[in-house]
Amino acid sequence: MNDVLDPAGPQAAQIADLWWLTLWVCVLVFVLVMAMLGWSLWRTPRSDEGTPPEVAPAAAGERRLGWSVGVGIAISSLLLVGLLVASVLTDRALALMPVDNALDVRVTAHQFWWEVVYNDPAPDRVFTTANELYIPVGRPVVVTLEADDVIHSFWVPNLHGKKDLIPGRIATIRLRADRPGEFWGRCAEYCGLQHAFMAFDVVAVAPDRFASWTEAQRRPAADPGDAAAQRGRELFLSGSCMLCHAIQGTTANARKAPDLTHVASRAHLAAGRLDNTPQALAAWITDPQGIKPGVNMPTHFLAADDLTALVAYLGTLK
Ligand code: CUA
Repeated sequence: MNDVLDPAGPQAAQIADLWWLTLWVCVLVFVLVMAMLGWSLWRTPRSDEGTPPEVAPAAAGERRLGWSVGVGIAISSLLLVGLLVASVLTDRALALMPVDNALDVRVTAHQFWWEVVYNDPAPDRVFTTANELYIPVGRPVVVTLEADDVIHSFWVPNLHGKKDLIPGRIATIRLRADRPGEFWGRCAEYCGLQHAFMAFDVVAVAPDRFASWTEAQRRPAADPGDAAAQRGRELFLSGSCMLCHAIQGTTANARKAPDLTHVASRAHLAAGRLDNTPQALAAWITDPQGIKPGVNMPTHFLAADDLTALVAYLGTLK
């Protein structure tokens, strides 16, 4: 699923072509250089301390040497210019991907998670999620990239190359998935203690599935049915959770941490660090610093039944 050289769209395919071309040219050059080195070592005359030194100029040998150096420089320059041209052409092709009817998504990198906003001309249709990018197969996506704190880098190898997110600057990346699949996204720029665990899931699905996913994500959180989950919601809204997190449909609307309106629908927790299970969620709430040292989520001390109630409530947020 995460083979870097398995393109799922036109942008990654262009980059993979360039990668293979570069690899084979370099392999060819390496093999030729090694073969010639071996050959020249093999044909060098053997000598020992009794052999008199060669001091007489060998005009013919020198001329031959001059020629072979010249030919070597010419071949190397041609290959390097060829690779340069190929890389410029690839860059052109990447910039030319059509973006008609593109999906407009804004991704903001935070230490150490990804905020994902699906823009829409109608403000009430805009919604926010985290660490997960659903995209429809076959439709171009223009991702606007911003950073909140330090420099990060957005990388979904199966769809495109890396793009830095720099605080105070706005970058965009255009991509398209041509087949359904789940692809791993990574932060590719060292950004602090948990850089290695700053991942996100990219899920490419058929357009109708994408439409039903967006409809579900736009809905505010449903009222919890059972008593434990209701108590969990009270705890969430009266404790420290709501100081950083938002749950649409409740009074929690802080933006410091991932939006949890539909947290139970996601495959992972803590930016790819944990599978999304009730046990993992409970561990994450009580010991985030043990699981991701340096993360901004503080440790919470909760009575066992309070924790169960909170996890039950978050589990209803499908
Ligand atoms: Cu964010 Cu590395």
